[in-house]
Amino acid sequence: MKRLAILISGRGSNLEAIVHACVAQAWPAQVVGVVASRADAAGLDVARRLGVAVQVIAPSDHVSREAFDAALAACLDALAADVIVLAGFMRILGDAFVARYAGRLVNIHPSLLPAFPGLNTHRRAIDAGCRAVGATVHYVTPTLDHGPIIAQAVVPVLADDTPAVLAARVLAAEHRLYPLALGWIVHERLQVDGLRVRQLDGASQLLF
Ligand code: GRF
Repeated sequence: MKRLAILISGRGSNLEAIVHACVAQAWPAQVVGVVASRADAAGLDVARRLGVAVQVIAPSDHVSREAFDAALAACLDALAADVIVLAGFMRILGDAFVARYAGRLVNIHPSLLPAFPGLNTHRRAIDAGCRAVGATVHYVTPTLDHGPIIAQAVVPVLADDTPAVLAARVLAAEHRLYPLALGWIVHERLQVDGLRVRQLDGASQLLF
């Protein structure tokens, strides 16, 4: 059984999709805890409703980024987490933290990386005239929104889209994409070679 810890800062809709998939698809895995960087994260209530243990580790309670990262690492180690799932976690993790959990740290980003790392991806994609956008699940490296890409979902941009409308369309794709990618991880169906990730069963790593 793989032990999954999910890190959040906000709404928790990906967290919900992941917990549902873990149960519904009988993964050889268990979500052992949700850690929020904000006490007011709505996702904390989502986790509680799903019966998952929650903790809050807030940057404001720590004197430095290193101290915050250390507290987070202590929490994850107490949970004996095998896989650390970033699901709307709005803190940049330090290089030492990322190195410590290398290969076990996964993130979802609402763009087709390497395009549009960082914030406001939907606004930037609309302004750039993109006809397609999407979401990416990737292993985390010290560079922000970078790392071996596990799977991507492609979503159309429609003529009258606002960032909010587009974000909702991408989010629906995220809810399919993240469980798909994590399912492969818990079943050990991925092979990483540099920045390239191969799904060993030949399953498509691109969702439409
Ligand atoms: C998602 O759009 C995710 O891609 C981004 O933050 C958002 C989190 O949403 N990293 P939720 O908290 O899972 O609803």
